[in-house]
Amino acid sequence: MERDNSLIRARQYEDQHRIPAEKRPAFHAVPPVGWCNDPNGWSFYNGQYHLFYQYHPYSTAWGPMHWGHTVTTDFLHWQDRPCALAPDKPFDCNGCFSGGAVEWQGKQLLLYTGVMPEGEGEIQQQCLAIGDGENYEKASAPVLTCDEQPAGASRRDFRDPFLFMQNGMVYMLVGGRGFNGHGRLLLYRNAHPDNPSARWEFVQILAENDGSLGSMWECPGLFTLDGRTVLVISPQFTHQTADNRYHCGNDTAALVGQWNGPGTPFVRQADVPLDSGLDFYAPQTMETPDGRRILIGWMQNWDHCYPPEEALWYGQMSLPRELFWHDDTLCQRPVRELDAVRQLRVEHCGVETENQTITLPGVQGRVLDCELQVDVTDAQRFGIRFACDQAHWTELRFDLDDGLLRLDRRHAGGVRDVLELREVPLLTPVRNALKLRMVLDRYSAEFFLQDGQQVASVALYDTPADADGIQFFVRGRARMNLQLYDLAL
Ligand code: FRU
Repeated sequence: MERDNSLIRARQYEDQHRIPAEKRPAFHAVPPVGWCNDPNGWSFYNGQYHLFYQYHPYSTAWGPMHWGHTVTTDFLHWQDRPCALAPDKPFDCNGCFSGGAVEWQGKQLLLYTGVMPEGEGEIQQQCLAIGDGENYEKASAPVLTCDEQPAGASRRDFRDPFLFMQNGMVYMLVGGRGFNGHGRLLLYRNAHPDNPSARWEFVQILAENDGSLGSMWECPGLFTLDGRTVLVISPQFTHQTADNRYHCGNDTAALVGQWNGPGTPFVRQADVPLDSGLDFYAPQTMETPDGRRILIGWMQNWDHCYPPEEALWYGQMSLPRELFWHDDTLCQRPVRELDAVRQLRVEHCGVETENQTITLPGVQGRVLDCELQVDVTDAQRFGIRFACDQAHWTELRFDLDDGLLRLDRRHAGGVRDVLELREVPLLTPVRNALKLRMVLDRYSAEFFLQDGQQVASVALYDTPADADGIQFFVRGRARMNLQLYDLAL
């Protein structure tokens, strides 16, 4: 029995307040109204890619968490679906937190974290809902309680189940915290293949934080790509590491290693941040029917949640990105569906610049895809300013002698500048040739450096829509080729 009519209310609200397409990004997923954070249940079901997300329809601030829902067939055009889950049961009345989805016996199976009060605080448990791609029925109780963890675990930090199938069994990877307070990833499996609402059994602790990468690990994920296994984590309370690859606050990382399947240890060999920009968190991945592994993240940062007063929605997803290896480096590139809609607007070849800032004919806009190849053999610095007018700009800059990448949003129009600057090392040294792909979509910019070996994302909510200038600046000498594409969406 429904405890209340929260789901009906949410569905009515979004129908009445749905934001028109021209006030949304052109090709990035956003909620129909209100707030969103993490992508959830990113998966393929019944001929469509499904994206659920953490959702609070009633304001542009985080609130009691619902699951919003949208679908796509090309990763560029998104179709709102009615709100999928509302916090309407005693065991999830404080929120339906993040989780995953798989197809199971022709149905869509969702696993999410139900948050409920306990004493002065809250507990987190894993809950199930089964549906047809639009309507979902919740199991009558959590399928995995917070007590079903190795002794000494936190009851409060036990969340964000990621689902995957292996040999006909459904597995769930959950983030938790051991007695030492460090994050860890716990693996469970559905003990009754014909009844996912029945018991789930503990398989193993798949990975444990030694304290060097944040504390709690949120939003875990797992995939194997060309023989290598990757654990995706979103660590909270990260301290800046000595090598500066990770920054203070909420971060993302791919832990790369070898794994022979449930019950065997995950042997960690390397780790790498998934995005070096200002806004990227809680990513999930899925495998497409044609075998691609696609990453999507929340293009936002918990430390920077200041919606403009007039905003009707707040929080957007990144462009879905294909993952691939270049030698040992995990790389990302925009989904090939974006390549398919590109139409060359202008090309510039062999543009020489020396200690100057330049603009180029035909190079401006806020919805575009642009590729650059720059000979920086004799340059100490190369940068781009985008979303510019007289008063605004945002800047991506390469300090080549120092091996640094710098993203600066202090002049984008926001009213606090303390959290607007990211400076990180270039993960692969740039010697003579710099390659860069820049994807702009009204409220965001995403940069793919050196064929996707490093990525940087930034949300732009405060910059006026007509601030569409693009400038290039060089210290030293550079020679540049550029192709700018419009997108036939
Ligand atoms: C990550 C997160 C998750 C949680 C959700 C709540 O951004 O904190 O761990 O499930 O957001 O909205």
